Amino acid sequence: MIAIASDHGGFELKQEIMKHLESKGLEYKDYGTYTTDSCDYPIYGEKAARAVADGECEKGILICGTGIGISISANKVKGIRAALCGDCYSAEYTRLHNDANMLALGARVTASGLALKIVDTFLETEFEGGRHARRVALIHEIEGRE
Ligand code: RB5
Repeated sequence: MIAIASDHGGFELKQEIMKHLESKGLEYKDYGTYTTDSCDYPIYGEKAARAVADGECEKGILICGTGIGISISANKVKGIRAALCGDCYSAEYTRLHNDANMLALGARVTASGLALKIVDTFLETEFEGGRHARRVALIHEIEGRE
């Protein structure tokens, strides 16, 4: 199950991504927002991030205007590694090396055709493990020092 969430700035791209996931037979849960009315991205970023952190969803996709606000918000939830990606290389390597569990996209920055390729790359790439597992563990040790 994939958690997906956006603010108003990411709403239209989220609709396209959900259609794309459906066409691939992938299950998702939409954590809002559900209209184009102006809203606050931390609310939706947190909802989807908690679903991933609690294990209800394996991965998540977050969208706001830049992808920045919603990724910063999601990364405040313990266990979340949300990566803002505007290209397929970053999407591939954040899975290979960071084991990112959430992808963030900027709907006002990244055109939808590219965004869908980024989504596919992110969802289809496995974590490499090895020395990268130690580094990912070190990221979460930071949470313990807060
Ligand atoms: C909303 O106007 C915009 O600030 C938001 O979508 C996002 O870009 C924040 O980081």
